[in-house]
Amino acid sequence: MTIRKIATVGHPVLRERARELNADELASAEVQRLIDDMIDTMRDANGAGLAANQVHEPVRIAVMEVDHNPRYPYKPRIPLTVVVNAVLEPLDDELVEINEGCLSVPDLRGNVMRHVNVRARYLDRHGHPHDEVKRGLTAGTFQHELDHLDGVLFLDRVEDPTTLTTWAQFERWHRAAFIERITAFVERVGS
Ligand code: NI
Repeated sequence: MTIRKIATVGHPVLRERARELNADELASAEVQRLIDDMIDTMRDANGAGLAANQVHEPVRIAVMEVDHNPRYPYKPRIPLTVVVNAVLEPLDDELVEINEGCLSVPDLRGNVMRHVNVRARYLDRHGHPHDEVKRGLTAGTFQHELDHLDGVLFLDRVEDPTTLTTWAQFERWHRAAFIERITAFVERVGS
């Protein structure tokens, strides 16, 4: 088990577009080890997801997993998912405002608009292609992680800077209203 160092906002690697991997690279021991380390690092930090450039490797890999996450207790479960060379496509114009945080943006949360329904095409860690529809908060997590690989942070998508809070101030002043709204949303869309 290897925990890698997470780059924080201001590090140029977070602003690079990460490059695609070819089949030989994906199958290599080095990249398979990177994927294992990303999973360990995400779990160690209680993240819902992690993109490879967050651990200083600018390649198009992201990992996601949500299972009773203490940072995001309202998020529906996401089984461990590894996405390589992923492409996201919004399926319609429906948007939802989600309060997000990020392991690369310590102690800050803010509200961003995300597509509710997206099509995700990607390779898994074995190079098998997937073509799936993601909805709701799970779709939001996919968009957050794929943004990282394009050099975009959630901060860039915060339209109203007055929604920015520390985690403690979110707990104190904003958590209850957000959880009430987002729980009703999750019940409606089912994810
Ligand atoms: Ni992030």
